[in-house]
Amino acid sequence: MKALVVGGSGGIGLAVIKQLLHLKPHSQIHATYFRHQPDYHPPQLHWHQIDITVETDIAKLAAQLIQLDIVINAVGMLHTAEHLPEKSIQHFDVDFFQTNIQTNTLPTLLLAKHFMLPLKASRRSYFVTVSAKVGSIEDNKLGGWISYRSSKAALNMAIKTISIEWRTKLPHCCVLAFHPGTTASSLSKPFQRNVALHKLFTPEYTAQCLLNLLATLTPQNTGKFLSYDGSTIPW
Ligand SMILES: NC(=O)c1ccc[n+]([C@@H]2O[C@H](COP(=O)([O-])OP(=O)(O)OC[C@H]3O[C@@H](n4cnc5c(N)ncnc54)[C@H](OP(=O)(O)O)[C@@H]3O)[C@@H](O)[C@H]2O)c1
Repeated sequence: MKALVVGGSGGIGLAVIKQLLHLKPHSQIHATYFRHQPDYHPPQLHWHQIDITVETDIAKLAAQLIQLDIVINAVGMLHTAEHLPEKSIQHFDVDFFQTNIQTNTLPTLLLAKHFMLPLKASRRSYFVTVSAKVGSIEDNKLGGWISYRSSKAALNMAIKTISIEWRTKLPHCCVLAFHPGTTASSLSKPFQRNVALHKLFTPEYTAQCLLNLLATLTPQNTGKFLSYDGSTIPW
């Protein structure tokens, strides 16, 4: 099995890599980091340093990978050193909005563009992006977090659109958006105290949920937005 985990240095991404190697020890895994390379170097794992918002970085990586069975994008941001997500439209900031779009939306579009051929070369493949339930327009009852929500809603539209195009071009590929639930990582850190302990998942649990789910899915399930428990989230 050949996999690419984008954002392999993140809480969820690194746990996905470890779980993949646990389930399929003979896998070849390529993983990316941006600012922090994890000190984790099993022989089946190949690290690549890339800025996922830069198209030439992605194109260079894609040129090295001829065939992939799984691409999982676990890159994302919710806050920066200067900004927490907005509680009100009065806190809206153009640069913060653009950083959300660049980090949460753009990478999946670039990955789909450049990794279509390696995914096509596999007999059955999965193209999965870690999204967030707060990106569901229908599920939005609370408001707030307008830049993050908008970037994930745009991401969801991108995933749905790619899944429709690939039904004919890559009929063996299952394209999915995945909601991980609240998972203990640096992304969720400022908000963890508001979450009941049993609802704050370890990255290991979230990775198990994702990979157990993938094991049950076929290309017939393409174009879905699925939660960690396997339920379907309305777009
Ligand atoms: N944690 C949660 O509760 C939760 C809930 C819902 C959805 N999600 C989603 O789950 C995904 C993973 O989140 P996480 O909790 O694992 O967050 P995390 O631990 O903060 O990881 C974020 C990852 O994104 C990478 N990254 C950020 N900007 C990048 C760039 N320009 N180029 C390349 N890589 C970049 C980071 O790389 P470096 O560290 O190497 O810079 C890191 O690997 C995100 O899409 C998030 O929105 C998380």
